[in-house]
Amino acid sequence: MKSVFSRVLNLIGYKIIKTSFKPKYRRTYKKFKQFTMMPEDLYCENLAICERYKAVSGNIVECGVWRGGMIAGIAETIGQINKKYYLLDSFEGLPNVQEIDGEKAINWQKENIQDNCKAELKEAEKAMSLAEIQNFKIIKGWFHNTLPTFSIEKIVILRLDGDWYESIHDCLYYLFPKLEIGGLLIVDDYHIWDGTSKAIHDYLSSIKSSSKINISKGGVMYIIKI
Ligand SMILES: C[S@@+](CC[C@H](N)C(=O)[O-])C[C@H]1O[C@@H](n2cnc3c(N)ncnc32)[C@H](O)[C@@H]1O
Repeated sequence: MKSVFSRVLNLIGYKIIKTSFKPKYRRTYKKFKQFTMMPEDLYCENLAICERYKAVSGNIVECGVWRGGMIAGIAETIGQINKKYYLLDSFEGLPNVQEIDGEKAINWQKENIQDNCKAELKEAEKAMSLAEIQNFKIIKGWFHNTLPTFSIEKIVILRLDGDWYESIHDCLYYLFPKLEIGGLLIVDDYHIWDGTSKAIHDYLSSIKSSSKINISKGGVMYIIKI
């Protein structure tokens, strides 16, 4: 059982994390709030992690963009000089959940919460244009159809937010090899969906990767590829 002292420490720690983001991250969140499902603190932490790559040229890819609010915030934060953004999504919502995704996911989809994450492509376009980014491409379709012919090299940031096992595994299978050494992989919902964490573990062990899984203070799962 936690002592009163450790509870107080946790609360103080939480406050430090909660208030230590740069104000500009909070402003970016407010700007794109209606285009993202991410809670504010996690959103800001994603921006802080991605900002370390501001000076690096290459491609930035998000698979599972919904209305584009997370990738637009990243784009606004790190800009478009020597960078190109790729947004991949079915724009038809999530595919059918599988047994491997677990009971929580199966029940979630049954209840059709958040319209099964269905979004309009034009919303993602609007988010990118609000970020004043022109150098982007939207690739509509199911990952298993679009990824095999998606020709891309030199990915510097790869962000996956596809929730289910197959979606995450497909993205890792096709795109992790294209991530630069030293490049950043962020996978959302590592602690939320069993399918997401299983896909990451299965994929990394299938390639015998020695890349380490990091969890930021606020709970963002990321890997710096080695
Ligand atoms: C949780 S939402 C993404 C949230 C978004 N990143 C944000 O900023 O709020 C998951 C998205 O993944 C997409 N998705 C999941 N699996 C997919 C697949 N296999 N093919 C294409 N899109 C997929 C869904 O259409 C949905 O828009």
